Amino acid sequence: MYKTSLGILLAAAALLSEFSVTHAADLEAGKAKAELCVGCHGENGLSQTENIPSLAGQQDQFIQWQLVFFRAGTRKNEAMQPIIEQLNNEDIRNLGAYFASLTPPKAPPDDNPELSQKGAQAAAGRRCASCHTDSYAGTKGVARIADQREEYLVKALHDYKSGQRVGGSQAAMTDVAYPLSNEEIEALAHYLAHL
Ligand code: HEC
Ligand code: HEC
Repeated sequence: MYKTSLGILLAAAALLSEFSVTHAADLEAGKAKAELCVGCHGENGLSQTENIPSLAGQQDQFIQWQLVFFRAGTRKNEAMQPIIEQLNNEDIRNLGAYFASLTPPKAPPDDNPELSQKGAQAAAGRRCASCHTDSYAGTKGVARIADQREEYLVKALHDYKSGQRVGGSQAAMTDVAYPLSNEEIEALAHYLAHL
């Protein structure tokens, strides 16, 4: 497993460095290609659909890496599979830049401030901000998690915890999620979805 993820990392690194050396991303081309995504990820990258993440304002590099992981099959999802087969490296670069340029989601009103309080404590105790940044906007390969859909955050944390999703950065999230209780996951997701 170590070898596989190292191979993927090297492939992703090569891909990304090729991008940065030889091309600048094309936002207009990214926007055109994003027509393929609207039906699931929503208008302007704001998902209205359960278990589908918003992509608006997501980190460019994170988006590109996830697409590379889907393509490599190290991240598996039936809905994304037929899509990823239609994307080349240039599309991936343009889509990352396009979605990153959109206005991030706005939090819905907090219907359970007490749960948010618990989530804030868990986030502080688990040092989530040490990687995701103080505003939880993320950076580079670390995802924006601020104001993401609550049920998707729950799903993502369970997917890491169970090992269903491995991630790219030395399996950082697998280690983080493994010790989280279901209650902590509920509280963290509620807090992060209502920042
Ligand atoms: C048929 C529905 C569908 C379409 C069309 C679709 N996606 Fe997705 N996408 C999903 C689902 C469902 C997930 C969540 C996967 C999971 O739970 O792991 C996802 C996840 C992602 C992720 C990971 C985001 C994260 O926060 O982890 C990225 C990036 C992504 N999609 C990009 C795209 C792009 C770019 C397009 C268009 C070129 C696209 N998707 C089209 C359903 C779709
Ligand atoms: C050591 C650094 C680190 C720490 C600490 C960390 N994360 Fe992450 N997190 C990452 C990285 C890197 C990714 C992207 C992983 C991947 O490629 O799947 C990520 C991804 C995620 C995702 C998936 C987002 C998406 O859109 O798919 C969620 C949710 C998440 N982290 C929540 C948390 C929470 C909650 C905590 C604290 C309990 C936390 N993280 C602590 C590095 C970290």
